[in-house]
Amino acid sequence: MNGFQIASGLIRRESLAKTGRPIRLDYRRFGLVGGKHVTALPEFSQASREARNIHDNLLLKGTDSLLKDGEVTMTGWKTDSPYRSRTELDRIEQVAGELRSKIDDFVSIGIGGSYLGNKATIEAVRGSLELFNLLSPEQRGGIPRIFFLGNHMDPAYTARVLEIISGRSVGVNVISKSGGTVEPAIAFAILKECMEKGFSDHASRIVAVTDKAKGALKKLSNEMGYATFEVPDNVGGRYSVTSPVGLFGLAVAGINIKEFLTGALFAEEETRQRPLDSNIAMLRAAMRYVAYTKLGIKIEVASTGTFDLKGISAWMQQLGPESEGKHKQGIWISPEFYTQDAHANGQMIQMGERNIMETFLMLEKGETDVVIPGKGTPVEYLDGRTLSFATQAFVEGLRDAHYAGGVPTMSYIFPELTPFTLGQFYQYEMNAIALSALLLKQNPFIQPGVQQYKQVADAKSGKPGTESYALELSRGEQELNPNLIA
Ligand code: PA5
Repeated sequence: MNGFQIASGLIRRESLAKTGRPIRLDYRRFGLVGGKHVTALPEFSQASREARNIHDNLLLKGTDSLLKDGEVTMTGWKTDSPYRSRTELDRIEQVAGELRSKIDDFVSIGIGGSYLGNKATIEAVRGSLELFNLLSPEQRGGIPRIFFLGNHMDPAYTARVLEIISGRSVGVNVISKSGGTVEPAIAFAILKECMEKGFSDHASRIVAVTDKAKGALKKLSNEMGYATFEVPDNVGGRYSVTSPVGLFGLAVAGINIKEFLTGALFAEEETRQRPLDSNIAMLRAAMRYVAYTKLGIKIEVASTGTFDLKGISAWMQQLGPESEGKHKQGIWISPEFYTQDAHANGQMIQMGERNIMETFLMLEKGETDVVIPGKGTPVEYLDGRTLSFATQAFVEGLRDAHYAGGVPTMSYIFPELTPFTLGQFYQYEMNAIALSALLLKQNPFIQPGVQQYKQVADAKSGKPGTESYALELSRGEQELNPNLIA
C-alpha cells in the first residue's frame, strides 16, 4: 500500500508576481432589480454629501463629542496609525523576530478588537490556522504554529491547546487595552503559570500590548519585565488592527507590517482625496445609510467563498454592530461562508424577509488551485476545470440569484491577498463604518452595551466591589416564576 497519493498535476501552485493593484468596490447590484439603483435616489446624494461633510469636518478635525470616548477623540486609527514611523515598525519587527527565532508555538491572547483583526489577517496571508498549524515546520517556512486564547473561556478548548503546545518552545503575546478584561486576563493567568514552570527565560518570551501607563496588565508587565507595546489612547479595540495590537502578532507571523501599513495609508489618502463617485468608504457608508433608512435593510450578510477570508467577515461582524448598534439603531452584520452556508441560511437570504443586504469579499486570484478530474463522474462537464473556477461560478451565482431575489449586493474585490491589499481593506472599512455610524448620529467609538454585560458577569463571578449588585441580581433571579422551567 502506498497510502494516499496526490495525482500528478492535481494541485497547481503559482507564485504570483504581486500586481500592486488596489482593492475595488463593485456596487453595480446595490439596488432593487427593476427599481432604481440606490445611488440614483435623491436620499443617496444627500447622504453622500453628508458623509463627505462628516469626514472633512468631524473625523479629520476631531472636535465633536460623537468622536470621543471620555475625554479622548478616538480617531488615531485614521490620523496616526497609517502614518506610523519606520523606527517604531523596526522595533516591532525586531522584538517579533527575536521571539519567532526561539519558539515553535505562538499563543496570542485577547478578545474582540484585541483578537479578531490579528487572526483575520494572519489567516488571509498564511492560510486558515486550523490547517496551517498541521503543516511541518518546513512547510510553514519557519513560522511558528499560532493559537488564540482569551477570546472565550471554554475549558475543553483551552486544555486542548495547552496539551498541544506542551513540551514545546512557546511565546506569548497578551493584548488588552484596558488590561483588565476578564477573558484574556484568565487565559493569561493560566499561560503565565505554565510559562514560569517551563522556561527560566519566561519573561523574555512574553510580550504585552496594552495601555502605556494604566491598567493591571501594564503594572504586571513592569513588575515582570515583559517587553511592551502601547495601544494608543486614541485608538479603540475594533479600530486597532493597524496599531501594535495587530502589528506585533502579524510580525511574529512573518507578515510584512510595513507593506500592511502602506496599504492602510493608500486607502486613507484615497478616502481623504477621492471625489464622492469613486470614494469607496463614502460610497459604502452612504449606500448602507440609504439601505437602512429607506429600504428597510436591517441585516448585512458579509459573504465570502474564500476559506482564508472567513476571519475578515468575522472582523466585520464586530466592527459594524459594535460601532453602530446604539439607541435602537444599526445594521446587524452576519458572516457567511459559501458555498457551505448556501445550503443553510442561503434559503433565508434568497426568499426570506427582504431586510437583507449582502457584501461579498471576492478574491480575483489565489496562488493555489486544484484541478477537477471529472471524467466518468457526475461532474464530467467540469473535467479539467479548477476549484477556483467552480468557486467563482458558484459565488457569483449566489450573488446574482440573491440580487434577483431582492437583495442589494456589493463586493469588495481583492486582486490578491497581500499585506498591502489587507491594509487597504481595513482602512476603507473602518472609514466606511465610522461614517455609517456618524450618519446615524451614533458615536462609533464607544460600546456601553459591552460594559453592561461585563458588570453582570463581574458580579456573578464574585469580583470584589460588586457585592451589592450581585445581591440585586440574585433577588431578580428569585422573582422569576420557578414554574416556567419545563
Ligand atoms: O472594540 C472594542 O473596544 C472591544 O471589542 C475590545 O477590543 C474588547 O472588549 C477587548 O478589550 P481590551 O483590549 O481592553 O481587553
